Amino acid sequence: MKKIEAIIRPFKLDEVKEALLEEGIKGMTISEVRGYGRQKGHKETFRGSEYQIEFVPKIKLEIIVEESLAEVVISAILRTAKTGQVGDGKIFVSNIEDAIRIRTDESGPSAL
Ligand SMILES: Nc1ncnc2c1ncn2[C@@H]1O[C@H](COP(=O)(O)OP(=O)(O)OP(=O)(O)O)[C@@H](O)[C@H]1O
Ligand SMILES: [Mg+2]
Repeated sequence: MKKIEAIIRPFKLDEVKEALLEEGIKGMTISEVRGYGRQKGHKETFRGSEYQIEFVPKIKLEIIVEESLAEVVISAILRTAKTGQVGDGKIFVSNIEDAIRIRTDESGPSAL
């Protein structure tokens, strides 16, 4: 199993969610987060000048899927969350050792 963690622009959430539903994603967790990337939350970088970091509101999606679904999840997010402007966000992919459905004790991919 893989975990796909995506930091996206809040206004893109609906579009991303719809695309993931169409791909048959069964569950996801979202959080309201704040962060910064290379521009430190600013629209432009000013060489040599010091300025404060601005934490910009973002949405974090966490989706655990069977390994075979990881690529379609990633491409659906890329397709729908991209504007082409700085601050579009990032996708992090990691391995998941196990998942357990609490109600039934099922584990592994069938718990997803
Ligand atoms: N290395 C990182 N680790 C954790 N979170 C990150 C990292 N880089 C970016 N983020 C998160 O992603 C959000 C958007 O980052 P952003 O898209 O601005 O990245 P970037 O590397 O500056 O790329 P771009 O040049 O396209 O803006 C940040 O607000 C932050 O929440
Ligand atoms: Mg940036």
